[in-house]
Amino acid sequence: MLDIKIIENDKTWELPEESKLGFGRYFTNHMFIMDYNKEQGWHDARIVPFGNISLHPASTVLHYGAEIFEGLKAYRRLSDGKVQLFRPLENIRRMNVSAERLCLPTIPEEDALQCYTEFICHEQAWVPKTEGTSLYIRPFMFGNDPYLGVHGVNEAVFMIIASPSGSYYKEGINPVKIMIEGEDVRAVKGGTGHIKCGGNYAASTRAGDKAEKQGYSQVLWLDGVERKYIEEVGAMNVMFKINGEIVTPALSGSILPGITRKSCIEVLSDMGYTVSERRLSVDELFAAMENGTLEEAWGTGTAAVVSPIGELRYGDVCYTVNGGKIGTVTQTLYDTLTGIQWGKIADNKGWTYEI
Ligand code: PLP
Ligand code: COI
Repeated sequence: MLDIKIIENDKTWELPEESKLGFGRYFTNHMFIMDYNKEQGWHDARIVPFGNISLHPASTVLHYGAEIFEGLKAYRRLSDGKVQLFRPLENIRRMNVSAERLCLPTIPEEDALQCYTEFICHEQAWVPKTEGTSLYIRPFMFGNDPYLGVHGVNEAVFMIIASPSGSYYKEGINPVKIMIEGEDVRAVKGGTGHIKCGGNYAASTRAGDKAEKQGYSQVLWLDGVERKYIEEVGAMNVMFKINGEIVTPALSGSILPGITRKSCIEVLSDMGYTVSERRLSVDELFAAMENGTLEEAWGTGTAAVVSPIGELRYGDVCYTVNGGKIGTVTQTLYDTLTGIQWGKIADNKGWTYEI
């Protein structure tokens, strides 16, 4: 058991009304911090007033991008007002995989769960109440050695901040427009595409900005070798219903193994669908759009939940999916997942974790 010290914040602040929260703009008034060095291991766990942190100008994270993060949500159950998390151990395990890849220290699962739980319990008054809102939790870790040689990390910091949030896209549950990126690539097998590290997102911003300028919410990445196969969207995994078959790109080593993806595959199998985790080429996808067999497309992610895709563009070719409307499978997935998360339907899978 970690000994987590608490320093209360004597300041607090007002949030806008829950319908105007947006995503990741407002924060609770505390944050969690824990330090690591090779001699002491993880130590000095504390919940402190939310505020700026100070870093050595040579800190590893500032020069070599040694940073990893996670994203999960705390929901206020509509049935009884209690607060619950969705599959937190999955995030904890994935963060350890990310840490191992970037030579950052791992955190024992039970210690990480204790950090999440005590921090969120302390901040629980900030979990919004309206359906569709949640407290978005952002655990992150960075290398913090104060010298410039390129090296594995000897000193690190683990932190958690939390943001009362509404929907990720301004469209909410309405279909989003996605642009397929043909120039930049996000990841290759053997790189860092399968982990959640800040560098992946830094490298994808240029394409994201280009898409946004043209009215698209995010980009859909193609594989980095042949630039032929569908990988994932900027902040979501993707699924398609083609002629009755549900297809999602296989976890090839260059895409993030999404927790929402994994959960959707299970819900879909309960619905009687077998999900094909396989390669899907952009040619196959466009042929399906042309011959009318692409029935639905959607993205899955913690921030984005289940997000219908209403339009797909690749270069000059642009198709509307399902008449620009949410399809029945997408809607059922959204209703089932959010139903479990907001405590509207029974969780018979053991996915929720009450705080
Ligand atoms: N892919 C990327 C690149 C992401 O950033 C995310 C969001 O976390 C996902 C997929 C979906 O992962 P998860 O469902 O675990 O949130
Ligand atoms: C999440 O869904 O939790 C993410 O991390 C996506 C994001 C980069 C906002």
